Amino acid sequence: MAGGVRNSTTGILSDEKTEEREQIIEMLKKAYWMEIETVMSYIANSVNPDGVRAQEIIESLTEDIQEELGHAQQYAARIKELYGVVPGSLDFTAEQSYLQPPEHQTDIVHVIKGVIEAETGAIEHYNAIIEATDGVDFVTQDMVIAILRDEEGHRRLFEGYLREYEAEGLA
Ligand SMILES: [Fe+2]
Ligand SMILES: [Fe+2]
Repeated sequence: MAGGVRNSTTGILSDEKTEEREQIIEMLKKAYWMEIETVMSYIANSVNPDGVRAQEIIESLTEDIQEELGHAQQYAARIKELYGVVPGSLDFTAEQSYLQPPEHQTDIVHVIKGVIEAETGAIEHYNAIIEATDGVDFVTQDMVIAILRDEEGHRRLFEGYLREYEAEGLA
């Protein structure tokens, strides 16, 4: 740190933890992009679906958009706190092939399965962050545990929707 201000001697902000900190920042950047892409996908999938059965999904995804946006903001804030820089949009690479608009906008099962895939990907990556930060960065770990709970809730809700379609032989 410049200006003669001493750095913390312990914890993730200390000089001796630089390597661990940079590894965590990279994981947080990936999480940030996952949330941003999820916001894009959920906006599209909360508007595109047609039909009576689509309404529950539309309402659910509309609510989730704000939550996922909040997650992205939390990841961005934590990147900065760890002396990182939140990346610019040119660094973004889309990955959610499974959440592209279906051929028919009444294909709700496609959307439900896409959401489950997105939430599962987030759950896997966030578990990896929780493991990587264990004993190293409890603040990031604590934040990600709370976010993980949201994603598990989202996943569970959409699993329930899928079960209903499966029970009726529609999925
Ligand atoms: Fe999220
Ligand atoms: Fe989610």
